[in-house]
Amino acid sequence: MKKNKVLVTGGLGFIGSHIVDEVIKDNEVIIIDNKSTGKIENLKYPNHENLTLIENDLNEVNLDKVLINVDYVFHLAAMASVPLSIDNPIKSTNDNLNATIKLLNACRANKVKKIIFSSSSSVYGDNTNIPLKETEYPLPKSPYAASKASCELYLKTYHEAYGLNYVSLRYFNVFGPKQDKNSQYAAVIPNFISALLEGEKPIIYGDGEQTRDFIYVKDVVKANIKSCECDYNGIVNVASGRKITINELYKIICETLGYDVEAEYLPERKGDIKHSLADVSKMKKINYEVDLEHFENQLKETINWFKKELKI
Ligand SMILES: NC(=O)c1ccc[n+]([C@@H]2O[C@H](COP(=O)([O-])OP(=O)(O)OC[C@H]3O[C@@H](n4cnc5c(N)ncnc54)[C@H](O)[C@@H]3O)[C@@H](O)[C@H]2O)c1
Repeated sequence: MKKNKVLVTGGLGFIGSHIVDEVIKDNEVIIIDNKSTGKIENLKYPNHENLTLIENDLNEVNLDKVLINVDYVFHLAAMASVPLSIDNPIKSTNDNLNATIKLLNACRANKVKKIIFSSSSSVYGDNTNIPLKETEYPLPKSPYAASKASCELYLKTYHEAYGLNYVSLRYFNVFGPKQDKNSQYAAVIPNFISALLEGEKPIIYGDGEQTRDFIYVKDVVKANIKSCECDYNGIVNVASGRKITINELYKIICETLGYDVEAEYLPERKGDIKHSLADVSKMKKINYEVDLEHFENQLKETINWFKKELKI
């Protein structure tokens, strides 16, 4: 992607900042971020001449002004927390759904070429038809998941009614450098790494035989960029399509760190699903395929980042 003007909402967050780091050298980049969870330190080039940072809430910004001559929008800003959305469904709907509709309307008015929306595997809820295909009926279990499913419908509607191009990317468990260890998602990876590095006993809930589908943050970045560059409009799972048990994951992390520490097993958490796995065949629609060979190297990169962050 070169010589475009792009808007990254949530560009100071975990995933958004990786997108900004990747595109900033060859493109003009505008970030809108209210810093609710994001921070400027997440950016590799915070003072880059190609960067315009708007520190404000998406609901407050005059988007018609911001979107003049913008080619692509990567929309990541959201209240990205299931528990917070359960505590405050109105705020979750306002930040996630209402802000998205406002953005879609401004994209349509300004003839943006395409918007790439960060959706979530949470729209599948407890669906056990694994591997999960995009055609499965959404079964959201939280206002957060409902807002993501609703946004997907609005993106489709704006495409049908106004011709706005879009891809909704349903991320599974994303991991990598810059992830907050208190995040609601693949928190298991930052939690294991930070507990081991800080000399605490890592906790596994249940028997550890539950499975997850992990995807490296840099693969999520590539999926976003590929989505702009293709002609496809629709929903695509973004995952590795490979399941791994929490016990296996823990073993790999211990081996990579060279540690031999027993994890502490606590009772299963209410609401945790047993198995999560994506059908990734639709990723070819965006001309992207995850290379499964690199999982251990990706964990190493993540561990090295945590070592630096925790000054170990
Ligand atoms: N991390 C994952 O595993 C995962 C999985 C599925 C979906 N997602 C989705 O991907 C996107 C990015 O997630 P993340 O993990 O990087 O989260 P994050 O919390 O690190 O990033 C979200 C960013 O949006 C900003 N933001 C929030 N509300 C805003 C608002 N109203 N106006 C302006 N800025 C606002 C925050 O300050 C933050 O910088 C989110 O939409 C999330 O729902 C993430």
